[in-house]
Amino acid sequence: MLLPVIMAGGTGSRLWPMSRELYPKQFLRLHGDYSMLQETITRLDGLSIESPLVICNEEHRFLVAEQLRQIDHLSKNIILEPVGRNTAPAIALAALSAIANGEDPILLVLAADHVIENNPAFHAAIQHAQPYAEAGNLVTFGIVPTGPETGYGYIQRGDALEQGTAGAFTVHRFVEKPNKETAETYIASGEYYWNSGMFMFRAQKYLTELGKYRPDILAACQKAIASTQTDASQEFIRVNKAEFIACPDDSVDYAVMEKTADAMVVPLDAGWNDVGSWSALWEVSEKDDNNNALTGDVFLHNAENCYINTDEKMVAAVGVENLVIVNTKDAVLIIDKSKVQDVKKVVEYLKSHA
Ligand code: GDD
Ligand code: MG
Repeated sequence: MLLPVIMAGGTGSRLWPMSRELYPKQFLRLHGDYSMLQETITRLDGLSIESPLVICNEEHRFLVAEQLRQIDHLSKNIILEPVGRNTAPAIALAALSAIANGEDPILLVLAADHVIENNPAFHAAIQHAQPYAEAGNLVTFGIVPTGPETGYGYIQRGDALEQGTAGAFTVHRFVEKPNKETAETYIASGEYYWNSGMFMFRAQKYLTELGKYRPDILAACQKAIASTQTDASQEFIRVNKAEFIACPDDSVDYAVMEKTADAMVVPLDAGWNDVGSWSALWEVSEKDDNNNALTGDVFLHNAENCYINTDEKMVAAVGVENLVIVNTKDAVLIIDKSKVQDVKKVVEYLKSHA
């Protein structure tokens, strides 16, 4: 039994001003025909899986329910978090709810905001990983890195577990988001993958490992899910607010993957991108002859390597290069494409002036 768990509770602030607290990145149609959440689910078509479990913030319940309906997933499986406590607790809630009726499914934990170009390769990696997860490993999908990115966790592979092209390795170590110099040494060594943030393990195995390393998180999630209410009229599973607020905040990477002795890595080479910035979105978008990626009503003259996205008003740009211009109803972003990580300065400013 393979149960996809879709983590959809992030804020996606690096894609401001399109991505907002009320409408974060995973619910936007940024690439492809559907929203990123919808793409995450439809990408699984053809695999032998249970109906996916989506875990998101309570505020986004109608958005998620509507987006699932649009792709004919009348999921009764939407867990609502009253507050965000990061991915370790989110996966714990999903695992606890998955074992509630005495089963112990394999969880395929996916982020709701990634782009994957090569679906057959992705499906093959999932099928490749499944027996390892069934045997009690915590499998992480490792992306062959193309540069010293600092927005990703890194996995140093250990021993090869099999011969052949698909590959599977033990994990020597896990390093969450290193600095640039460190990342460069990792790339040079050829021994590292990017952590895709996608995992596969048995529900009970995850809970056991979480209990070893973060018993406080496990205990808080057990209390929060024990007093869960399922909405009769809606498809939501509501987690107890007071109990979940008391849960410590941590990512699955820090809380479990870095510490467990049973981690392993299955390489994934499938055109993966976590679309963590406007330049990453430019990279995966279709471009014109001058390498401009354009959405909406845009006029260009002598412009190249730009990303321009406009909701309503027409945008005209002349004699510019390497610019990102994002025009929404109430805000316009103009930023150098090599400085897009600094969007967080804008978000910090807005938070401090809210
Ligand atoms: N339900 C829920 N609740 N989902 C959450 C929460 C939460 O509190 N926090 C984050 N998420 C979801 C996000 O929506 C996203 O889909 C996923 O979990 C990962 O969270 P991010 O906040 O995007 O993590 P990251 O990108 O900084 O880092 C992780 O992903 C990288 C790859 O994209 C790490 O796993 C890195 O090691 C990894 O390289
Ligand atoms: Mg991310």
